[in-house]
Amino acid sequence: MELRDYALGIVEATDLETKLRRPADALTDARPGPALRIDAPGRPRELRIVPADKARVPSLRAMPDPAQRARIVHALANHELQAVELFAWAILAFPDAPAEYRRGLHAILADEQRHTRMYSACLPNYGARFGDFPVSGYFWSKVPDLTTPLRFACAMGLTFENANLDHTEVQAREARRVGDEELASVVDVVHRDEIRHVRFGWTWLERLKEPSQTMWEAYRANVTWPLRPELARGREFHAAPRRAAGMDDAFVEALATHDEEPRPGAGKSRVV
Ligand SMILES: [Fe+2]
Ligand SMILES: [Fe+2]
Repeated sequence: MELRDYALGIVEATDLETKLRRPADALTDARPGPALRIDAPGRPRELRIVPADKARVPSLRAMPDPAQRARIVHALANHELQAVELFAWAILAFPDAPAEYRRGLHAILADEQRHTRMYSACLPNYGARFGDFPVSGYFWSKVPDLTTPLRFACAMGLTFENANLDHTEVQAREARRVGDEELASVVDVVHRDEIRHVRFGWTWLERLKEPSQTMWEAYRANVTWPLRPELARGREFHAAPRRAAGMDDAFVEALATHDEEPRPGAGKSRVV
């Protein structure tokens, strides 16, 4: 089977099984085809994307209550499912990207499938199933700005997954605090895999940026507002997983100390 056909099947499928299925045989990438930029994924009816205000998620403070924990973990499963779809999306959108880049997308896609399954498998512990609550589509909303392989790497690897290095530290700690070791160990696995995913973003930023740019300048130049350094970190900043992902000290320091900035053109009077 061709990688492109596999990816198209994942984005368009309206059943979860197809989205999470591993290919039966080794995939080939001989015919990447014309660039295809899909606006929205197929979804089973119960997982159709709705506006964010219709899919509110409780904060981690609600973790002790299993009914609320179900909604938190449900949202994590939906993040992972969006990641599956977006890595498949990128395989379709960037047929001209280097073969190694495309292989990397596929390898991460397989991890994201596993993460989706692991979070889904926790839900019955709280009496829930994947599809029980409304879901939003934050990652999908950014697709119009992901115009190049470099921009994709900067948005997914160096912004969303970068921030997830921090989020997963806190989620695992909170899950342990409420005695949910099963959830905590799933989050630990996601955290470890995320280090590799951020490394993918870092590696391709290095390879695809303008030689005259520093890594930081190139990252800043390849994310579109509202994506920005502020969204590439959590409230708690953890340097160690970033170093493990290969980031250099200058970038880690810049990310850790970067001040929130106003929307471009918003004027000085903006209250934050
Ligand atoms: Fe993931
Ligand atoms: Fe990831």
